[in-house]
Amino acid sequence: MVRSLGMGRRKPPPNGEFKMNSDKKQTGSRIPSFYEMGLKERQIHLVNATGHTLAGLLSPEGMDPALADSMIENVVGVHCLPLGIATNFVVNGREVLVPMAIEEPSVVAGASFMAKLVRESGGFTAEADPSHMIGQIQVLDLVDLPRAKEALLQAEEQLLEAADDASPTMVAVGGGARAIEVKIFGESPVGPMLVVHLIYDTVDAMGANSVNTVLEGIALLVEALTGGRTHLRILSNLADRRLAKATCSIPLDALAFGQFTGEEVRDGVVEAWAFAAVDPYRAATHNKGIMNGVDAVVLATGNDWRAVEAGAHAYAARGGAYSSLSRWWVGEEGSLQGELELPLALGTIGGATGVHPGARDALALMGVERAQDLAEIVVSVGLAQNLAALRALATEGIQRGHMGLHARQLAIAAGARGGEINLVAGTMIEEDNILLERAEELLKQLSEG
Ligand code: MEV
Repeated sequence: MVRSLGMGRRKPPPNGEFKMNSDKKQTGSRIPSFYEMGLKERQIHLVNATGHTLAGLLSPEGMDPALADSMIENVVGVHCLPLGIATNFVVNGREVLVPMAIEEPSVVAGASFMAKLVRESGGFTAEADPSHMIGQIQVLDLVDLPRAKEALLQAEEQLLEAADDASPTMVAVGGGARAIEVKIFGESPVGPMLVVHLIYDTVDAMGANSVNTVLEGIALLVEALTGGRTHLRILSNLADRRLAKATCSIPLDALAFGQFTGEEVRDGVVEAWAFAAVDPYRAATHNKGIMNGVDAVVLATGNDWRAVEAGAHAYAARGGAYSSLSRWWVGEEGSLQGELELPLALGTIGGATGVHPGARDALALMGVERAQDLAEIVVSVGLAQNLAALRALATEGIQRGHMGLHARQLAIAAGARGGEINLVAGTMIEEDNILLERAEELLKQLSEG
């Protein structure tokens, strides 16, 4: 049973432009013809559909420059990106409209289309680990490293208590220090070194600031316990205690299109994945396609996409060779099965998520309050995006789809609606003349009969 679209906890901010109409309130992520609507029409539809004014998300300015000025240094303006909504997503039985900030065409359309195929078998199943981050302390100038390691492990309770004392607010919301691990590097360019890992639960925050504060708070104790000198004290972006995983299944008949049978598409996707599984050159591009989806949602929600990128690629190389983050195979009943797993250190509170008006609305639109819920949606979008790329590459190639999309966008920009869009776009593709002026001419011809 599919649950309806959740709308988060916040009250809608005032917005005169986009009037809500509660009669039209939507309960799902499937919005037929959303793509074919004009920009304004889409905005109004979204507001009506969700019952939320989404003023921050829909604002053409994106962010007040004064707010930007308080966030980073030397501010002179605000940089904007297109913000699109991926439709059709069902994640763990819940319908969700997904905001995506990205400049690349075809990404939002690809995710939406694959989500439509996947929803035929119930949508994505996803899970996310608790928000356990790893903080690292580098310890140098040690004579007896095994003895220092033993001393730290013996004092685990004391270290965890000291860590919790260093950030009582995180403890108050249910987070805090969870474990200590110690690694010895017998050799390094500067000689032997010991590294302490503090496993720290950041709950619904990404957690970099809290972890770094706590590490600085326990560094002196680490020195006292080991007799060494602590050097770096910093969070690791290889957040492999905070993995998110999504799986999906697509029936054969949903895969068939044009001259391609379902079997051909399925086997083509599996062969394409196998290429990325063995070859790092292909894996880099394959994973880039996954990150097209992941980053777009991470960015729309004000999260640190560089941290997510670093973690994803480090995780892709965990076996010693860089490889695919996803896996595709043939299921027992012949369907196409997919799985994606990657570290996702995301927050729903703190950082830019708390101050960026668009980010706040993006979270409200998805109805997520918990970081784990957000990670489950993001990993599902990554898997959908991967499938969109592999399906296109394994069949007609990606250029055809890109040109088709471009032609349809120009047709819409020229004013085409409904059936006119395909007529205008189709003619431009046939003529190999995909230009706004041509779309306008064709539309004029159509309206003149
Ligand atoms: C382009 O942004 C992404 C793709 O190259 C991904 C892939 O090759 O799998 C299409």
